[in-house]
Amino acid sequence: MPIDKDVMIEAIDVNKEYRRSGAIIRALVDINMSIKSGEFIIIQGPTGCGKSTLLNVLSGLDLPDSGKIIFDGENIARSKEDRLSKIRRQKVGMIFQDFNLIKTLTAVENVESMLWPTVLSNKEIENRAIAALRDVNMLERKDHFPVQMSGGEKQRVAIARAIIGKPRVIFADEPSGNLDPESETQIMELLKKINKDYETTILCVSHRNTVAKHGDRIIKMDNGRIV
Ligand SMILES: Nc1ncnc2c1ncn2[C@@H]1O[C@H](COP(=O)(O)OP(=O)(O)O)[C@@H](O)[C@H]1O
Ligand SMILES: [Mg+2]
Repeated sequence: MPIDKDVMIEAIDVNKEYRRSGAIIRALVDINMSIKSGEFIIIQGPTGCGKSTLLNVLSGLDLPDSGKIIFDGENIARSKEDRLSKIRRQKVGMIFQDFNLIKTLTAVENVESMLWPTVLSNKEIENRAIAALRDVNMLERKDHFPVQMSGGEKQRVAIARAIIGKPRVIFADEPSGNLDPESETQIMELLKKINKDYETTILCVSHRNTVAKHGDRIIKMDNGRIV
């Protein structure tokens, strides 16, 4: 079957369950979805419906029990960790609810850390980190530590870290989960700008209704299923 170049990620009959003290939790049930290159997708649903599990298997952070995940033309559902980490490094940017910045590093060092280890010169890495911080409007805070920043500012640095490697896809898991409504709007508008300017495909997970309007398309989940 020819590969459709417009399709960035496809999930085919994907299932995943967890076992906890004898009980089986069906986190993903017969998931089928197709994401086109350049789309800005919001995955929405209540807490516990399987959103993070879905993001993790689509991004190669975790493996499904069955089914296929076609990422940029390659089925990664059975790939080994070294292959998955290479794909994540080359093609994926990640953004999390709690920012995941390294406390002991400044903003610019946090952004640079995404490229370590590298064959690039220190100057080249710094130039790229500065360009990424400029994109998120945090350049004037480049030498500040995470503790000196608000939640919205930390998330902007985390977005700079996600884009420094020029990823094909950004996965954002509740990126505004710890932010006030005004910062949420800023972060979502920033993601939209990155999506437009760099044609980066974005999958953003949220349980909040207020996030949905920022995407091109909403995929709703409930109880491990797309509804
Ligand atoms: N590592 C795990 N072990 C056992 N159960 C898990 C694990 N991770 C998630 N679950 C369960 O799987 C379901 C889906 O979780 P999750 O994907 O985190 O949902 P969401 O991100 O939508 O809140 C929930 O019932 C959750 O409790
Ligand atoms: Mg979650």
